[in-house]
Amino acid sequence: MIRHLLSIKDLDPEGIERVLATAATFQADGPRIMRKYPTLRGKTVVNLFYEASTRTRTSFELAAKRLSADVVNFSVSGSAVEKGESLKDTAQTIEAMGVDAIVIRHSSSGAPNRLAGWVSASVINAGDGMHEHPTQALLDLYTIRQHFGSFSGLRVAIVGDIAHSRVARSNVWGLQMMGADVTLVGPPTLLPPRVEGWGVETTADIEAVLPKADVVYLLRMQLERGTGATVPTLREYSRLWGLDAARATLLKDEALIMHPGPMNRGVEITADAAELPRSVITDQVANGVAVRMALLYLMLGGRDAREEVPVE
Ligand code: NCD
Repeated sequence: MIRHLLSIKDLDPEGIERVLATAATFQADGPRIMRKYPTLRGKTVVNLFYEASTRTRTSFELAAKRLSADVVNFSVSGSAVEKGESLKDTAQTIEAMGVDAIVIRHSSSGAPNRLAGWVSASVINAGDGMHEHPTQALLDLYTIRQHFGSFSGLRVAIVGDIAHSRVARSNVWGLQMMGADVTLVGPPTLLPPRVEGWGVETTADIEAVLPKADVVYLLRMQLERGTGATVPTLREYSRLWGLDAARATLLKDEALIMHPGPMNRGVEITADAAELPRSVITDQVANGVAVRMALLYLMLGGRDAREEVPVE
């Protein structure tokens, strides 16, 4: 297995398949993992979060604890970072204490790659700037496969703020690797520069795409990254590209609605659309724990999950 997960491209289709299959074994008794496995006893995982996070940080923490690893949550506020300590110094300090994996979220694209050059621990990218969020892509792939069984020929429409989205980047590369077709939907101002090189279709017409899509994946408007300035008004955005229950009727019966969270309800998705039976947004969160367990297990533990006897 890989030593670091900095980009979804660090995995090949077999590697992705292995993570998804291992995650499924952890969910053998149900979507919420109640058991604790002894697999990573004696290992230490540090969550190094320089940016806000609810579900990703909690999910990594739960995943590591379910595998019996020791978990240290390092958040910037209250740390020496506030006194001006650099990422390199912080990393070396943490490393000197003896850790096996560092899960990092940072507002700068490429910060996890720099970190990986400075430490001997495994580095896992939990979201870096507008670059990548590979574990989000893995849990999204897992959720899609849960419903469709495979990816080949599936049509996934990713809607909204693609330009500022690390989730979109990791998902596009991951979905393509697994054989799905991706269409990016949104105003041209929210498409990334040089999107021609991505190998995807692009369109501004959501209503033309929905009837053909197997999955519609709404992205959060990244207001903290300046998205507000790229659309006339959020109300206008929501009228033209938002998903509400009425627009969702254009979807095929078996099509899924996904969103990585946190949602701006009433902007990219309305509350009634998020709560439709075809919405798998809470499944994504539940699956995140299993997928992160699989990843930690494969990166730090090694052997086949099925060999392990649960502790309780
Ligand atoms: C995403 C993130 O932080 O990149 N959230 C998440 O990890 N579930 C998406 C977002 O913030 O829009």
